[in-house]
Amino acid sequence: MKDPRGRTIDSLRLSVTERCNLRCAYCLPAGPVSFASEEELLTAEEIEEAVRFLVERAGLRRVRITGGEPLLREDLLDLVGRLRPLNLQDLSLTTNGQLLVSRARALRDAGLDRVNVSLDSLDPERFRNVRRGGDVKKTVEGIHAALDAGLVPIKVNVVLLKGTNDGEIVEFARFGMKRGIEVRFLELMAIGEAASTHEGRFLSMDEALGRLRASFRVEELPRPDGSPSIPFAVSDGNGLGGTIGFIAPVSRPFCNACRRLRLSATGLLRGCLMNAGGVALAPILQNGAGDDRRRGLEEALRRAVDEKPWVSAMRTGVRMNTLGG
Ligand code: 5AD
Ligand code: SF4
Repeated sequence: MKDPRGRTIDSLRLSVTERCNLRCAYCLPAGPVSFASEEELLTAEEIEEAVRFLVERAGLRRVRITGGEPLLREDLLDLVGRLRPLNLQDLSLTTNGQLLVSRARALRDAGLDRVNVSLDSLDPERFRNVRRGGDVKKTVEGIHAALDAGLVPIKVNVVLLKGTNDGEIVEFARFGMKRGIEVRFLELMAIGEAASTHEGRFLSMDEALGRLRASFRVEELPRPDGSPSIPFAVSDGNGLGGTIGFIAPVSRPFCNACRRLRLSATGLLRGCLMNAGGVALAPILQNGAGDDRRRGLEEALRRAVDEKPWVSAMRTGVRMNTLGG
């Protein structure tokens, strides 16, 4: 479908849990965090209903499962199996990779197309500092397991953090090129935990490109339709080459090309990451039946699409794990 400003809406970010096995400094506070309880989450069946509606009514083609950490959701394989037959062109999942080694094959068998893995440092100690736990080795092994399982093309997301991982940009590019994986550098957004420290930690796409240009030949490629990522061809002049990408919502906002809706784990449908509110789908899915339910969902979809901004303030105090990262 088209939104009131003429943007095609065909993609959904679907959060399936708020919980996470890491505590990335830019995402969650170090202390205790309260997450929505199991009972507050949409069930796999309700999610299936909501996605089916969006496919039929809005022409949804792409679903990206996210969290929190989606692999923490116990019925994830069941959910993937329910979404697979819904005629989606692309069913993918974003994970921190800590649990991927043992799950990659089963996810592929359940019908998942591919994964994006977030990995903010290749250095074990720095990884633990940024992500407040976890093991870089597990994530790297998870990436290899996903490659073996055919969950491709894999993308590796690196959030650019000034003074933390900016010395690793070249190494990350090599990491991707050696494995045929696209590494995508993400500009830090002033969301949730990152809102208060944003100014000191933000590193722009142009600064990061400068680091890459010091070591590689770098050429901008055309951006595919609907992708927020700006691709670049990179080569070292010695036979090593590949594609890297930048997602630069701060220095190169892409709201005018945004094709996305978001559904939070608790069932709030949003037109934009920066909308604190959202339209609650749970009461519609739980209480409605037949035509009533359909009318409720139609109305919810219209409200979510209507509130999609053209220019976003790109700042919110709401945490990323509840918005659906
Ligand atoms: N800014 C940019 N990226 C973020 N992510 C989480 N919080 C932020 C933020 N404030 C990233 C995760 C993951 C992706 C889904 O979003 O690291 O790679
Ligand atoms: Fe977990 Fe992702 Fe947030 Fe890190 S960014 S704490 S991996 S949800």
